[in-house]
Amino acid sequence: MKYWKRLTKSEQNKRIKEAIYKNVDFDSDISLGYPASKLDEKVFNTDVSFLKDSPLLQAFVKNPNHIGCHTFGESELAFEGTQQLEREVLQILAVDIFNCKEEKYDGYIATGGTEANIEALWIYRNLFKKEYQAKQEEIVIICSEDSHYSMPKGANILNLDIAFVSVDFYTREIQKETLDKLIKEQKKRGKKYFIVVSNMATTMFGSVDDPNLFVTVLQENKVDFKLHIDGAFGGFIYPFKAKSSLEKNKIDFTNTHISSITIDAHKMLQAPYGTGIFLCRENLIQYAATKEAQYVNGTDVTMVGSRSGTNAIAVWMILFSYGYYSWFEKISVLLMRTNWFCTELDQLNIKYYRHPRMNIVTIHAAYIPEKIALKYELVPDTHNGNPKWYKIVIMDHVELDDLIEFINALNKV
Ligand SMILES: Cc1ncc(COP(=O)(O)O)c(C=O)c1O
Repeated sequence: MKYWKRLTKSEQNKRIKEAIYKNVDFDSDISLGYPASKLDEKVFNTDVSFLKDSPLLQAFVKNPNHIGCHTFGESELAFEGTQQLEREVLQILAVDIFNCKEEKYDGYIATGGTEANIEALWIYRNLFKKEYQAKQEEIVIICSEDSHYSMPKGANILNLDIAFVSVDFYTREIQKETLDKLIKEQKKRGKKYFIVVSNMATTMFGSVDDPNLFVTVLQENKVDFKLHIDGAFGGFIYPFKAKSSLEKNKIDFTNTHISSITIDAHKMLQAPYGTGIFLCRENLIQYAATKEAQYVNGTDVTMVGSRSGTNAIAVWMILFSYGYYSWFEKISVLLMRTNWFCTELDQLNIKYYRHPRMNIVTIHAAYIPEKIALKYELVPDTHNGNPKWYKIVIMDHVELDDLIEFINALNKV
């Protein structure tokens, strides 16, 4: 790992303090133009001693605004200290985890996976229109039926059509013939430009699509496409169990067809909400530029506008508290726990879906009495009655004791 190292708490504190120091200080600097300030001390008690020991909370009070994108063009000078920490987060993700070439990427910390996914759809819609003179009705979003609802939400906002590829009920895999049929149908409807979202772990199953299957079928059908990876949930777990660097079908930027990736820090990484991360190859993010954002230095290529710089510091702290190897260890423990749980389910002859590199176990609803599902707060595939599946996510707080209790409860029934 070139950039993803571990730093001691005092090294982290020093870096964060230096970063905050480089930002505007609304307490002492004369800064007349910003429609922003530090948190209101009449409301928030900012004069408390524990703030001194927590640079993150100090930053929270100082309230840096990371509006815009800091890998591309210019940025607001007032927050350049903490913007650098955001750039370091993106560098670790792009270069160390997703194998992008140095400085050949752009990205930002978005409000969440929803925004990061819609940013991708937005960029590709505009790219097809600008570079291919595509008409709105010639563009379609393609993704599996297990995809997150941010895809239909994005289609609605961007006024794009969307088509869902069905998956096998048991394996949750897309079949080549099904995808081929769907693409041919879309072509018949006049679609020429395909925005494809391939999942690096779906919300309900943790299933992982093969991006190369999309590539093969789209190429066979001779259509133009752009490929986005939704790794909102899987991005901080799936890449860490790669069997070797020679592994085929790696889901990262070494696959030249993959143009962008969503990775949420506020899921597996346990960061505060508001830390969805959008990453894309260089020369793409400008398709989402709003040139009218003239008062923002560098204008704006993000969906959200103002966003908290403290969130970037929080993600930075998590990454540098662990370093790559401790994170790898943490993930390995969760996967071992998941393996243990699946073995117990096997012994009870309970049917479930699980991707071997993921920590989600989705059990056929027939095996779970409703009162057990409610007691253990399992998540159903639908809240509209008659769920077919219930999922369990082996997160940090889901300990073996909890799983043993759940297994015992199932055993009794
Ligand atoms: C695969 C996937 N993509 C996108 C999202 C949306 O993320 P958010 O709720 O952060 O907007 C989720 C949320 O669960 C998800 O699981």
